[in-house]
Amino acid sequence: MSTASLRLYGAVMDGYRQLFVEGPTARFLSRSRPVRRQGYDLDLVVCAAAQESDDVVSLRLTRPDGLQLPEWRPGAHIDLFLPSGRQRQYSLCGDPRDRTSYRIAVRRIAEGGGGSIEAHELRFGDRVRVRGPRNAFAFVDAPSYLFIAGGIGITPILPMVKAAGSKGHLVYVGRSRKSMPFLDELPSSAEIRPDDEFGVPDVADLISRAQPGAAVYVCGPPPVLDAAQRLMFTLNPTGSLHTERFSAAPVVDGREFTATLARSGTEVRVGADETALAAIRRVQPGVVYSCQQGFCGTCKVRVLGGEVDHRRNTIPEHMLTCVSRAFGDSIVLDL
Ligand code: FES
Repeated sequence: MSTASLRLYGAVMDGYRQLFVEGPTARFLSRSRPVRRQGYDLDLVVCAAAQESDDVVSLRLTRPDGLQLPEWRPGAHIDLFLPSGRQRQYSLCGDPRDRTSYRIAVRRIAEGGGGSIEAHELRFGDRVRVRGPRNAFAFVDAPSYLFIAGGIGITPILPMVKAAGSKGHLVYVGRSRKSMPFLDELPSSAEIRPDDEFGVPDVADLISRAQPGAAVYVCGPPPVLDAAQRLMFTLNPTGSLHTERFSAAPVVDGREFTATLARSGTEVRVGADETALAAIRRVQPGVVYSCQQGFCGTCKVRVLGGEVDHRRNTIPEHMLTCVSRAFGDSIVLDL
């Protein structure tokens, strides 16, 4: 695919993300601004790396020519192309006024697809390609803010907390203090609630602290996000909820099917509650993916047989294995 085609595809995917990933519920809930494409591909260099907690490193990326980086707003993310070709997305967690470097933070996931492990191996002077910034988690004007961040979910929230100033209140949850990055950058008013000191958080209790009409931002593990979406409008009907997931959304109304990987002839059984991507990764651990939410297009694969149950978007003759499924009992993929 040419560069122009890739850019066009990226723009289309942005539209899909706005329409389908945020979805009618999330758009209603969050009233968030559209995803805006703000940058372009850049070759950057690692200018600093720091251990931020037990399993989180931060990386600062800068232009080798010293010129300014594209601007961004709190909630923005970049696509990082690792030396192996893996593509991953990371929230920008530095200072938006700093046009000389981007800061991201990466939690090491031992049982993941290898991207976080590779990112942890990046060192001063290493070169990486970056696309973006783009923003699907916009920071809206509101009379007050409640931020609920879980673990690495602090990364998009941190610039928002700083921007909100005295109008915002942060509740930061995590397994233990040692696992929670950026504790030393938080305002003194932040509530820090590690599970090993306070127990598992009661999301209803956390949300009930938001003032009427507040914007509530949640980024953390799926149980916290799901509870926030279930409870928000009972507890604060005039407020707005803004969420961001770092992991695959749960499969809804899934049926089992078989995916045949045509190049090897391998048959993979896809369970009702798992994605095709997850099933394929059992036999092809190196298969490429990034967002796991159906908007980046990295997992797109040509369909050679069977009918696709497109979830969130439709790409003729192709399947996004992270979200789409088979309509029938089987599908044949060009893998
Ligand atoms: S669309 Fe991004 S990984 Fe599937």
